[in-house]
Amino acid sequence: MTKQRSKLVVGNWKMHGRLAANAALLEGVARGAQALPPDVHVGVCVPFPYLAQAQALLGGSRVQWGAQDVSAHEQGAYTGEVAAGMVADFESAFAIVGHSERRAYHGESSELVAVKTQRALAAGLTPIVCVGETLEERESGATERVVGAQIDAVLAVLSVEEAARIVVAYEPVWAIGTGKSASSEQAQQMHAFLRARLAAKGAQVADVPLLYGGSVKPENAAELFRQADIDGGLIGGASLKAGDFLAICAAATAGASVAS
Ligand code: PGA
Repeated sequence: MTKQRSKLVVGNWKMHGRLAANAALLEGVARGAQALPPDVHVGVCVPFPYLAQAQALLGGSRVQWGAQDVSAHEQGAYTGEVAAGMVADFESAFAIVGHSERRAYHGESSELVAVKTQRALAAGLTPIVCVGETLEERESGATERVVGAQIDAVLAVLSVEEAARIVVAYEPVWAIGTGKSASSEQAQQMHAFLRARLAAKGAQVADVPLLYGGSVKPENAAELFRQADIDGGLIGGASLKAGDFLAICAAATAGASVAS
């Protein structure tokens, strides 16, 4: 029997949005989320300048909010950086860390991602730690080695209590923004692998939410979320339309009752 875990669906807006358009999207998501069952949790990770807007429009709703990154530094002379404490000032729940776009375009190492995870936790945020292999790594049979090293680097610096407070998102790089999602079998296989790594850290860590990300759409969400070790999703492109995002959240409901 699989343990029943609640579902979590988080939107990652990336560098999209403008003040006026955001209002309609945030209000639409907040309104639609009222109809979701209580075991489906919903969040949106917005660009830093819009955290105040998210706080104003989502406060008191079912939808939580957060940022897409935090600095590895607590404070200081780091021009352009945003500290986890600043993100927390806006009552944020989440901070994504280690997204593959940051690893690829900003040279972020797993060790840096580990420090960012610590900063987020210290500020009272839930870090959503992203891991995932490139197509080249998958095709050369290196998927488990790469993803295992990414998660191990983070777990190595956390206590068991801290590790129990993270969320992990498995996002194969080749599936992000490509329209080509991992199959539910491929995703489940990697989630089971990650679950075992987390469980090895400590029994309390085994049940941290494991999200799948990479071309999740209303059409494929239910099948992905039905898998035993997939506890929800990190949604990029499809989180920019309230209707699509809410349909994906609703699919988490449908998948929530299946055990293996
Ligand atoms: P996508 O992005 O849903 O647009 O593929 C997911 C992500 O990068 O978090």
